[in-house]
Amino acid sequence: MTTRLPHRTISLVDQRAGAIPTRPAQPGSLPVPPARGAASQKGPLVDTFGRPLRDLRISVTDRCNFRCSYCMPKEVFDKDYAYLPQSALLSFEEITRIARQFVAHGVQKIRLTGGEPLLRKNLEVLIAQLADLRTPEGRPLDITLTTNGSLLARKAQALKDAGLRRVTVSLDGLDDTIFKRMNDVDFPVSDVLAGIEAAQAAGLGPIKVNMVVKRGTNDHEIVPMARHFQGSGVVLRFIEYMDVGATNGWRMDEVLPSGELIARLEAALPLVALEASAPGETAQRWGYADPSGKYDPQRGEVGVISSVSQAFCGECNRARLSTEGQLYLCLFASQGYDLRSVVRSAGGDAELAGAIRRIWQGRSDRYSLLRASLPPEAQSSGARRVEMSYIGG
Ligand code: GTP
Ligand code: 5AD
Ligand code: SF4
Ligand code: SF4
Repeated sequence: MTTRLPHRTISLVDQRAGAIPTRPAQPGSLPVPPARGAASQKGPLVDTFGRPLRDLRISVTDRCNFRCSYCMPKEVFDKDYAYLPQSALLSFEEITRIARQFVAHGVQKIRLTGGEPLLRKNLEVLIAQLADLRTPEGRPLDITLTTNGSLLARKAQALKDAGLRRVTVSLDGLDDTIFKRMNDVDFPVSDVLAGIEAAQAAGLGPIKVNMVVKRGTNDHEIVPMARHFQGSGVVLRFIEYMDVGATNGWRMDEVLPSGELIARLEAALPLVALEASAPGETAQRWGYADPSGKYDPQRGEVGVISSVSQAFCGECNRARLSTEGQLYLCLFASQGYDLRSVVRSAGGDAELAGAIRRIWQGRSDRYSLLRASLPPEAQSSGARRVEMSYIGG
């Protein structure tokens, strides 16, 4: 018996004011639910709310060469920060074995993330292994990667040759001063733009550019970014600054709700609402209009990802595998399931398949939907949440 989740627009009241950066807690581990009698194997795999499993995000490193204040603030991620040791990481073979079982259970899209995934040595080897996987219907996967773009100019062609389909590049502004303030490592805009061009030239499209918007820091870059990418074939998406992890000192007054963003953008560049292109999509799509007010595909589209103001948990079909093999069912989870021990156990792939089924069938995560109604003590429980650099975006 499953229950449908409601769609909910969330009022932006800060119930976490005063949250301060803290050192992240060591992520805990949940026991994989034990098999009880004959597992229910019939029909598609769905969670307790009827949500299927479609999208697997695999973090391949917890390190990054940027220090974005909303993700890896310098004061916390300093030279003494304890990153995962090499010995803790899943090997490419282990990742592929796990991914194969996810694909057998409905996954159609794999996103490689980090930290910064291009820092993982020989990533092309993993991509080639994942590109060989097929869905039960025999289709290849949509394999994509989220990157800060810093190493993309150098690596785009090799990634494409290995079987990567497309990339999503993070870029928080076009003005060097603003962008450097966001990445906090003095990295220039021009090098990221060169990475995007190289990805376009290599055929890693459609390329998406993700811009996290912090009110008062980079919100005046919204219109210049939109103008820059309009008509380029690149889909720009604006992301509401989220209360992920426990270290970014998130405050509601720094969130620019998508409704307000679209109103500002529309005043400069006329827009029309577009239909979602896939169920469970994170972004709401808006097309640029021609002078008659109709969508003009030549001008392209933008997206808004409203994780704070309009939760999209109702259709969330995403699972996240950390660098060391913990499986998280929500971006805001504080604990994952230890799949590394399962993949290293004697039970082999059958045990892995059973574990994935039981974990997903028991899933009831819907953090964004619940956020507004959480009691104050739960609101401040961010101190236990895993970091986005650890499980990926
Ligand atoms: P496409 O398949 O290219 O459309 O990718 P996507 O939109 O599924 O993924 P992407 O990684 O580009 O997501 C963009 C951003 O949306 C992430 O960096 C997060 O900030 C946010 N996001 C993605 N998935 C979730 C989610 O499940 N929950 C919440 N709250 N935010 C998410
Ligand atoms: N809020 C929203 N998005 C975030 N990301 C990381 N931290 C946050 C946050 N606090 C996402 C961004 C970035 C990707 C790597 O992770 O989309 O582009
Ligand atoms: Fe690195 Fe991306 Fe996090 Fe910025 S948002 S610190 S680029 S992982
Ligand atoms: Fe999915 Fe959790 Fe994000 Fe909701 S908050 S959309 S359940 S990852």
